[in-house]
Amino acid sequence: MRLEGKKIILGITGSIAAYKAAMLLRLLVKEGAEVQVVITAAGKEFITPVTLSALSGKPVISGFFGANDGIWNSHVDLGLWADLMLVAPATASTLAKMANGIADNMLVTTYMSAKCPVFIAPAMDLDMFAHPSTLKNLDVLKSFGNVIIEPAVGELASGLTGKGRMEEPERILEIVVDYFSLKGSLKGKTFLVTAGPTFEKIDPVRFIGNYSSGKMGYAIAEQLAGQGANVVLVSGPVSISAVNSRIKVVKVESADEMFAESMAHFPNSDGAVMCAAVADFTPVMVENYKTKRGKSNWALELKPTRDIAQALGNIKTENQILAGFALETSDELENAVQKMVKKNLDFIVLNSLNDKGACFQVDTNKITIIGKDNNQQFFELKSKKEVAVDIVEKIKSLIL
Ligand code: CTP
Repeated sequence: MRLEGKKIILGITGSIAAYKAAMLLRLLVKEGAEVQVVITAAGKEFITPVTLSALSGKPVISGFFGANDGIWNSHVDLGLWADLMLVAPATASTLAKMANGIADNMLVTTYMSAKCPVFIAPAMDLDMFAHPSTLKNLDVLKSFGNVIIEPAVGELASGLTGKGRMEEPERILEIVVDYFSLKGSLKGKTFLVTAGPTFEKIDPVRFIGNYSSGKMGYAIAEQLAGQGANVVLVSGPVSISAVNSRIKVVKVESADEMFAESMAHFPNSDGAVMCAAVADFTPVMVENYKTKRGKSNWALELKPTRDIAQALGNIKTENQILAGFALETSDELENAVQKMVKKNLDFIVLNSLNDKGACFQVDTNKITIIGKDNNQQFFELKSKKEVAVDIVEKIKSLIL
């Protein structure tokens, strides 16, 4: 029994493929999973809740309210209960609702409350699957970190043949089992990730900061944790938060504080990713009182901060991986390689301010990964979550 003790929400929507969901449910239960079925109103037209509750051994949830008066089905509790949510089959309309937060049924509200990974197996006619709106919604869902189980090419209910057939239950079961067994995972490994900007205090009300949003570093931390690793995320001031419970967030403000926390956690780590946009300079003097407006200029004297990546590079052992970022505006490759060598990094992730949609504030990034062996991997413009996948794959290729 490969899914013993695992709690799974199986979301079923209104597609002919709903009959296959019964088989999928049987396979999940046979492997020891506890499965709660949540079905849409349209789903019930294709398969009866009686069949599903007999197979799962639990009442099927469909509406916001239970069969008896006064019973409210809590989508929040359900979302927190599950180790995994699987939507199979997912129709074009449910994909659209999930991608856009249209929480008008129990399935989508549960999806939006779920803290666990979500796997989605679309099923629809080939033209609907190929429609730009469906493809766009799938991209949005991928950018949320959801896993799309691509439909197969085959005979469809309409009589046509093409891509849109829900993946077979046996195959979906293997994908779920794979996820839980965390094959080739980072389970038992610990990583340090720095993220966000640093704020360098000038006086009690002013600081020097930068435009970093922390999105890239947080996405890397989530990806590492999603693969089973424990992560210490040393984060400068950002407005986002970490989701995975394997991430321990250590909040800092200045480059000095980030230096101290990184040095403290690095020796217990298998690797570190230096994603923070650390201030290179900090005021020599921090005023105790707010500096008043005056008529004359104010010359602020700045001193260099300590280079955290360099300090970790100096103490790095043979068994540790150290990765850094290079944000460049000219002679990009050359500068990045120089930084990697100087800071004793195993690889460096180059992003250029000259690329549209890369770097600060945006949700996308375009990177080149340069290895110690000078191997260069160029990537397309992607969401930061997808970029994080590429970076973690690189780490895995070095560490496993
Ligand atoms: N870095 C760091 N501590 C600093 C400055 C940078 O840990 N005080 C790390 C960054 O997190 C990044 C890498 O070093 O992983 C390169 O940062 P970048 O700002 O591109 O380079 P610098 O070394 O600061 O050089 P410059 O700003 O002159 O290009």
